[in-house]
Amino acid sequence: MRRAALLLAAGALWAAAAGAQPAQTYAQRYAALCATCHGGNGRSEMAGTPSLAGQPGFYVVTQLFLFREGRRDNEAMTAVAKSLSDDDLRGFSELVGKMTPVPAPALAPVPDPARMARGKALVSQHLCVNCHGADLGGGEQVARLAGQREDYLALALKEFKAGKRVGYTPAMSEALGGLAAVDLDTLAHYLAHLP
Ligand code: HEC
Ligand code: HEC
Repeated sequence: MRRAALLLAAGALWAAAAGAQPAQTYAQRYAALCATCHGGNGRSEMAGTPSLAGQPGFYVVTQLFLFREGRRDNEAMTAVAKSLSDDDLRGFSELVGKMTPVPAPALAPVPDPARMARGKALVSQHLCVNCHGADLGGGEQVARLAGQREDYLALALKEFKAGKRVGYTPAMSEALGGLAAVDLDTLAHYLAHLP
């Protein structure tokens, strides 16, 4: 599917009304299906696995859709997403969209002042805030970055940079064009320690 078509399809999913109420609520299904990896309150304690709390619902539905379509590649998540209906994608996204953001456990527990200053400068030079919001809290189809796990952020940035993770817009690969690998780690450190 082309990018424009993906965006339309994900947008239509998000806008459509929910179908018949399932027997189990999405909170119950989240506890059974998602919590082991993403944490009961949406704060992940698992390496390489993002916290979900605080992500905008529209961003979540888009990513679940990309996993289901095989456009975003991850063995665990693709397997989960394949079993989900359109209503499920919406139901889980609405649930996640209402979870209160919680600070994530970072790789290094104490923020390093020099890397925090450098990260802040990189974020303003590379206009991350233009799309991810002044507080880097995300919105609409753009991810929340503040307080995300440091290891996951570093991984995501490297995958975008290497063209391994293909967004449904080219925004991220363009944004990372002028950044070196060490900058990506610095950005991850900075973002993970933002409240
Ligand atoms: C076996 C572990 C596992 C389970 C179970 C699991 N996930 Fe995931 N999930 C992951 C991993 C790992 C990633 C990161 C994938 C990557 O690196 O691209 C992820 C990514 C995601 C993302 C993208 C988040 C972002 O910031 O881009 C969403 C949304 C998501 N999962 C939702 C869910 C939901 C909803 C469920 C339950 C229906 C679920 N996951 C079950 C491991 C899991
Ligand atoms: C032109 C808009 C735009 C700019 C500028 C931008 N981003 Fe993004 N970013 C996005 C969009 C849209 C996504 C969702 C990716 C997709 O298409 O699936 C995203 C996703 C991400 C993710 C993945 C989050 C997750 O939970 O998986 C990270 C990390 C990220 N951006 C970091 C940055 C950083 C750091 C900068 C600045 C160097 C930046 N972005 C600049 C639009 C932008």
